Formats: sequence, C-alpha cells, structure tokens
Amino acid sequence: MDSVITPGELRARVDAWRRAGARVGLVPTMGNLHAGHYSLVEIARGHCDYVVASVFVNPTQFGPSEDFSSYPRTLDEDRNGLQAHGCDLLFTPRVSDVYPFGAPASVRVEVPVISATLEGVLRPGHFSGVATVVTKLFNLVQPQVAVFGQKDFQQLLVIRRLVSDLALPIEIIGAPTRREANGLAMSSRNQYLSPEEREHAGIIRRTLERMQAGVRQGDSFAAIEQAAREALEKAGFAVDYAVVRNAADLSEPEDRRREGLVALIAAKLGRARLIDNFLLDL
Ligand code: PAJ
Repeated sequence: MDSVITPGELRARVDAWRRAGARVGLVPTMGNLHAGHYSLVEIARGHCDYVVASVFVNPTQFGPSEDFSSYPRTLDEDRNGLQAHGCDLLFTPRVSDVYPFGAPASVRVEVPVISATLEGVLRPGHFSGVATVVTKLFNLVQPQVAVFGQKDFQQLLVIRRLVSDLALPIEIIGAPTRREANGLAMSSRNQYLSPEEREHAGIIRRTLERMQAGVRQGDSFAAIEQAAREALEKAGFAVDYAVVRNAADLSEPEDRRREGLVALIAAKLGRARLIDNFLLDL
C-alpha cells in the first residue's frame, strides 16, 4: 500500500486506475483506526477494484471546546492496519491541501434540516464541517463508491442527502456498526474511558434494545424516551438525548407509527461523549 499527501500525487494514482477502467472506492476517516473502520475498507474492497482510505482530522467539524488538538493521532498503526485490510492507497492530506485558502475562508457545504436536529443542535457547525470536507474528499479522489458507518447515523443521512441533492455520481454504502463484546459501539473516543467505564458503557446498547422492546409493545414514544433517559442517568451518564425518530430524516414520528424508526442515544460518561443508534426491527 502506498501513501500520498498532496492532491497532485493522489490524482496521478487515481487517474491511472480510472483510465484502466477500474472502479475506485473511498473510505474517509479521521484516523486512530479500529475494527469498525477496517470493516468499511473490507466492504469497499467487495465493491471496487481499488480502495483509497483518507486519514484527515478535519478542523472544521470540531467546535471550539471540542477535542481537535487532542484527537488521537496514530498514523503508523493506521498505515499498518489499512495495509493488512487490503487498502490500496492511503491519502493523508495536510490542512493546507484540503483548505488551500484557510479553513475560515473555505467554501462551505450546508445540508439544512437534517443537520438541524440532535447532533446538529449540540454541535453547531459540525455537519457543515463534515459536509464540506466530504465534498472536498469526493472531488479530490473522485470515487465511484464511498463507505460510511451507520454508527454515525445522522452523518450518513447528511452525506446521502449531499450526494443526491448535488447529483454527485457516487454510490454511498452504509456499513453496520462494529461493537465490543459488551455491545459498546467501537469508537476512537472509547479510549477516553477507563477499563471500568468501558465495561459499564455496554448499557447504551442494552438501553437501545429496551427502547425497541417498548416500541414493539406499543408504549408511547414519550414514555420510552423518558425511561431510557432515566436508566442512563441512574447508571451515571449525562444524557444529551435518548429519542425515537423517523429513520428517513430524523423527524419526530407520529405516535402510532411502527415502521422506519431509529432509536438514538448521545451521552457522556466521564471524559467521553458516546453516540449510538439502533434501526428498530419491528
Ligand atoms: P471517523 O470518526 O474516523 O469515522 C470514519 C468512518 O468510520 C465513519 O463513516 C464512521 O461512521 C465509521 N465508523 C466509526 N465507528 C464505527 C463502528 N464502530 N462500526 C462501523 N463503522 C464505524 O466520521 C468521521 O470520521 C468523519 O466525520 C469523516 C466522515 C471522516 C469526515 O471528516
């Protein structure tokens, strides 16, 4: 597996593949890779001739009080892992390669409405930063396929909308969430948890399962959400949200609706802010 830094080097490699008629897949990441990220590479492999992974800690998607400067950077390990999982090319641009006019002066991509709820309320500007960097990565790599995790459910919806509204010729694949043995969704931010907290955090997944059981037995969404919040608070979490939404656009469902629903949780435990979700199987 080769690595490139500049858009020029990247373009030379990808152009050669495309001239040979190959199908190119992209897996965008911020590095500090784990089995969840590697599963995206494997899925891309199954759909493409060549897989490009990007590692770029994107400044525009972090709020002023968030962990941009302390976000874990582990490029040597990431490179070895990507190679072992069949990635063909690693793209690690510098901030000046992605934001040649500087991040504050950058053209921004906004995805209204879907960005305006849940994570978008708690992390103002976050999805604008994500949509902007993903659009730039799409234009730099020009993949036919890109793979994103369902773990970041709202992000996946934002990217699907971005691609369809801007008519980008890219197939977006949503990949299932990889979990630890106790059900905790794998995340780079799990390393902010102590070993005890990590074990304890399995309760998020169990709470999502209980929310699903509540919907199945016909409880009101308000009662389901209240019970989930209380269970998490009792377990020591600071809860940002624990909600049932329409999976298509994250709008609030009619109380009798029993299909196309997703349960979503965001909660802090110790230093870590954890998010997870569950597409409800009813
Ligand atoms: P990052 O958090 O590094 O995640 C990169 C990709 O891995 C995302 O598509 C995310 O949904 C997926 N992922 C994370 N944890 C996962 C898990 N446990 N199972 C399966 N997939 C998982 O998401 C970002 O980076 C950034 O916002 C990015 C899209 C790269 C734009 O900067």
